[in-house]
Amino acid sequence: MAIQRTFSIIKPDATKRNLTGAIAAEFEAAGLRIIASKRLHLTKAQAGVFYAVHAERPFYDELCTYMASEPIVAQVLEGEDAIAKNREVMGATDPAEAAPGTIRAKYALSKGENSVHGSDAPETAAEEIAYFFSGLELVG
Ligand code: CDP
Ligand code: MG
Repeated sequence: MAIQRTFSIIKPDATKRNLTGAIAAEFEAAGLRIIASKRLHLTKAQAGVFYAVHAERPFYDELCTYMASEPIVAQVLEGEDAIAKNREVMGATDPAEAAPGTIRAKYALSKGENSVHGSDAPETAAEEIAYFFSGLELVG
């Protein structure tokens, strides 16, 4: 499997509880290298663009309000099979269904406030990285 890049967000519930370092350490322990990182406070409109794929879902408005409620930390992770590896380290969307030891099992508060975002495919990873970072900010 080739070296890939994926996009990650440490979400508002996690930054609020001072879990940025703990979550970053989980990525690094899994062999994912943090090659870009920045802390931002999104507007609801910016969160809406990021999650536009979910615009028709019943949870969309609440999701956008939550994503703009506190700062986030946007990161690019690089490594072997990084997209799937990150999803594995994150665990299932709903912490009640997340495998033991995963970030969401350890830290998530609920299906909505679930501590991390991770890209789900190469195309979405490329789009999401480009939404948050310029090429000059990716230092592999
Ligand atoms: O983040 P992930 O890819 O695992 O899940 P998603 O299906 O792409 O949903 C994006 C985000 O919307 C989730 O991470 C949750 O924060 C939120 N969500 C929600 O609040 N309620 C749901 N029933 C499903 C997702
Ligand atoms: Mg998703």
